[in-house]
This record gives sequence, C-alpha cells and structure tokens, in this order.
Amino acid sequence: MRLLLAATVASTFTAIITILYPAHASEADASLVKYGEYLAIAADCSGCHNSATKGLMAGGLALHSPMGDIFAPNITPDKKTGIGSWSEKQFADALRRGISPTRGSLYPAMPYTAYNGLIDKDIHALYSYFMLGVPAIENASKETHLPFPFFRIALPVWNYFYNRPYKIKVRKSFPQLERGRYLVDHLAHCSTCHTPRNFMLAERQDAYLGGGKVWPWTAPNITPSEQGIGEWTTKDIRLFLTEGHNQYAVAGGDMGLTVQQSLSHLTDDDIYSIALYLKSIPAYTNSPDLDKDPPKKASLSQPVTELQFNTEQQLDDQSLDGSRLYQAACSSCHGVYGEGSQDGEHPSLWTNDTIRMKQPDNLINIISYGVHYRGLDQEHAMPGFVAKLNSAQIASLTNYVRNEFSGQSSQVTAEYVKKLSLYENNDYFIIKYVKIIIILAIMCLASLITSVLFWIRRKGG
Ligand code: HEC
Ligand code: HEC
Ligand code: HEC
Repeated sequence: MRLLLAATVASTFTAIITILYPAHASEADASLVKYGEYLAIAADCSGCHNSATKGLMAGGLALHSPMGDIFAPNITPDKKTGIGSWSEKQFADALRRGISPTRGSLYPAMPYTAYNGLIDKDIHALYSYFMLGVPAIENASKETHLPFPFFRIALPVWNYFYNRPYKIKVRKSFPQLERGRYLVDHLAHCSTCHTPRNFMLAERQDAYLGGGKVWPWTAPNITPSEQGIGEWTTKDIRLFLTEGHNQYAVAGGDMGLTVQQSLSHLTDDDIYSIALYLKSIPAYTNSPDLDKDPPKKASLSQPVTELQFNTEQQLDDQSLDGSRLYQAACSSCHGVYGEGSQDGEHPSLWTNDTIRMKQPDNLINIISYGVHYRGLDQEHAMPGFVAKLNSAQIASLTNYVRNEFSGQSSQVTAEYVKKLSLYENNDYFIIKYVKIIIILAIMCLASLITSVLFWIRRKGG
C-alpha cells in the first residue's frame, strides 16, 4: 500500500514537472546549471561571496586592502538585495568590465581583471547557475566606503589603462596548454594574488606570476625559476593544488582556502592543464626578497638546543629565547629537531619553502595564525599562536626557526611583526603619496587659474 502511494505521488510529481518544464529544456537547463556550478567553483565565487551566517553567495565577507575593507555583495537571485533582476548582459558586464547596474564601477577586489577573458558560453552557464541553481537569500550586504581619493568615480580611468587581458608568450601552444592558460589567467585568477603590482596597484605584466601580496600574506613566485617552483614536477604541482601540500610546501593562508573551496574540486584533466601551463610560462627571477636558501640536510645530531627537552614544557610568558619557545610551542608536532612526523602529517621544517624564503612574512603569519584547510585527502590544521605569544616572542621564534632550519641570518624585529599584522608593511606609492600629489595638483591648478585671470585683467585694463 505504502509502495503504491509512493509510486502515485512520484508519477504525479513527474507529470507536473513535465508540464511545467518540457523534457528537452529541463535536461538542457540542468546540465547548463551543473556546468555553471563547476565554473563558479573553478572561479571561487563563493570564496568571497559566501556568508558564514546567511549562506551560499549571500555576501558579507570583508576583503582587506591597504586602502580599507571592501565588502563582497549578495549575488544570490534575490530580487531586492541580490542580483535577481539583472539581465545576462548586466551580469557579463560586472564579471568582465567591473560595472554594476546598482553600484557603478566595481573595485578590482572583485577579480574582473581576470574574468575579463571569460568566453560568452561560460558567462551564459554561470548566469544560468546563479539564476536557477543558487537559492535566493535576502541579505543586504554592507556598503564599502573607502577614504578619499579611492572613490568609485576614479575607477573608469584605472580600468581604461589596466583592465586588459594578459599577452603572455608560451612555448608552442596546444589545446591542453590553452585550457591551462584559460584556467590560470581567467577562471582561477591565480595572477590576482601571485603577480606583483605597480605603483597604481595594477598587476605588472612583465612580472607575470612572479610573486604578489595578499595582505598580510605573500603569494610566492610560481614561475619555473629558482625563486619560484622550477624544481617542482607536474606531479608535485598537481599534489599541491589538490591536497594542499607536497614535499616542498604547504598551502597556508588564502592558498589553503583556494585549495579547499576551488582547486580540490576540479577535474584531473583541468589540474593537469594548470600544471602543464605553469611549466611553460616565462621564468621570473627578479625579486630578491623571494630568493630561497637551498634546502638544508636534516641531521639528527644537530645541536638544536643545550636545554633538555620536555614536551610538557609550557609556554613561558616572559621567555624571548627562540629555542625554548620552539621546544614549547612547535616540537610536539614538528619534532625536537624540526624533522617532522613519520607519517608526513607534520612537515619537516628543513625543506619547507616558507622557511627558506628570504622574506619572513609567511612564516610570521603561519606562527601567528596557523594553518587550516581541507584538501582532497583530509583536513589539515596547525594552531595559531597570536593569542599566546607577543610580537617580540613571535619575532624571536621566527629568527630561531630561520637560523636553525634554513641557515639564514634572520633579524626580524617585534616592530616588523606588529606592522605586518596591521597590514602596514606596504610601501605602495599611490597609497603613501596620493593625497600629497592631489593637493599639489590642486594648488598648481589654482595658481594657474589666478595667473590667467590676472593676465586677462591686465590686458583688459
Ligand atoms: C576575490 C574575491 C571575489 C571573487 C573570487 C569574486 N568576487 Fe564578485 N565581488 C567581490 C567584491 C569585493 C565585490 C564588490 C566590489 C565593490 O563593491 O566595488 C564583488 C562584486 C560582484 C558583483 C556585483 C554585485 C553588485 O551588487 O553590484 C557581481 C555580480 C559579482 N561580484 C559576481 C561574482 C561572480 C559570479 C564570481 C565568480 C565567477 C565572483 N563575483 C568572484 C569579490 C569577489
Ligand atoms: C587568494 C589568493 C591566491 C590565489 C587566488 C591563488 N594563490 Fe597560490 N598562494 C597564495 C598564497 C598566500 C600562498 C602562500 C601559502 C603559504 O606559503 O603558506 C600561495 C602558494 C602557492 C604555491 C606554493 C608556492 C611555493 O613556492 O611554496 C603554488 C604552487 C600556488 N600558490 C599556485 C597557485 C595557482 C596555480 C593558483 C591558481 C589556480 C593560485 N595559486 C591561486 C595565494 C593565492
Ligand atoms: C598541533 C600540531 C602543530 C603544532 C604545535 C605546530 N604545527 Fe606547524 N604545522 C602543523 C600542520 C598539521 C601543518 C600543515 C601540514 C600540511 O598541510 O601538510 C603545519 C605546517 C607548518 C609549516 C609549513 C607552512 C607553509 O606554509 O609552508 C611551518 C613553517 C610550520 N608548521 C611551523 C611551525 C612552527 C614554527 C610552530 C611553533 C610555533 C608550529 N609549526 C607548531 C602542525 C603543527
């Protein structure tokens, strides 16, 4: 009886669906929406647009920039607070040109400088997914208010000069390499983090993927050079992008989230295309602060510290002794000698890219905030110590780890650690001097106008 009832309900439901959506259309829609969802994952839309409390694409995340916080809006199909009443053309303009019908010019924190190369077919699939596959959620997102002179009205000028697709020369091209390029440059927008920026905060095409900033993190050089990932095989790259770690590196900070939300869900073919493409791009070698010391050979006879080890040792509130701090905070997982754990869960510190890099920022961030991400294989977590250690202790721990495990002579100070945590370690020309330049320009203009008026008066008189 129950079975009969269930069958009747099911067939009635199918009949209603068939009347509402003709078979062809609904099948086509469903596969288009599914394809759109895959693209949205590859483009990591949810990485910025998800709301922790309201749900999928409901907006709210604050993106830190040196100018101030920029908030990601609600992009669910809600008609009042989302993009439910947008046409496909308006959606395409937001993605490729950074123009919104409600906000006007968008800040390039929305990566339209990468999405500008998305093909029409993919825009159509994304639009279908957002309109039909994402539930509408009412949530008015916070408005962004950046200080003078970073107002929206200045953006069309910036876009005119800087919203241009890349022209990177690769060795002889073929379809899989082209697919890799499309993913890296446009959908997965790797360059928005990994390419350094010029004095106007635009990506420098001459330093393509040569190492950029994602405050307070540094996204390393990922070109095939010594400063970058020249020694990695395509297999190493694939492992890193899907599982978040390999023998050289761990995906900390925003890279961990990129692996968790986006890259670990891509098809094997797409990941292989990305790896192949990264091996084919020009090697960038011109950023001395990203130089890496060669890996040091781990040696268990290394005299790490003269202290006797005690894994129970508690963090001492006052201690500024790096080796003591290491034994108390790190050795239980990474080993007394930094050798890592047998099962590979806790990496060896002797070969780690982050420790070998000349610039200490990522190591300071790892010690402060830890590591948290889920890769294809499992969850990875290391606790952060920012609440337990003060800036001076983090500085001396950083120096100890770098001196001990990579042989660098490290001189990080407490001030440097503090500045990094406040996103104050940038020296971008436009941010430092723009106000002075504008005031000077206004003074010049005012004196020019005064002299012209004076001249006209004198001629007239
Ligand atoms: C790195 C973070 C980031 C990613 C990834 C991202 N966005 Fe955005 N997006 C933003 C921010 C920030 C804004 C708001 C910019 C502003 O206020 O000027 C925005 C604005 C928008 C807008 C304009 C909304 C409005 O109401 O004006 C749309 C539409 C949009 N994003 C769609 C997408 C889609 C679709 C994707 C994936 C293909 C995506 N975004 C990926 C950060 C991001
Ligand atoms: C939101 C910013 C962001 C995006 C997008 C991003 N990355 Fe990263 N990436 C980082 C950061 C930050 C690190 C440093 C992580 C660490 O050291 O813990 C990193 C590290 C890496 C590394 C390790 C390099 C090394 O020498 O240790 C590789 C390889 C890499 N990313 C590749 C990519 C590729 C390929 C893409 C695009 C498919 C990409 N990333 C997109 C921020 C980003
Ligand atoms: C509870 C265990 C645990 C403790 C304690 C711990 N770590 Fe980790 N650490 C991890 C795990 C897990 C990872 C990530 C492993 C992975 O994803 O493969 C990691 C990763 C790292 C990395 C690589 C990050 C990167 O981006 O390349 C460094 C460097 C590191 N830890 C240093 C330290 C230092 C220094 C301390 C002491 C302040 C410390 N760890 C304390 C578990 C721990």
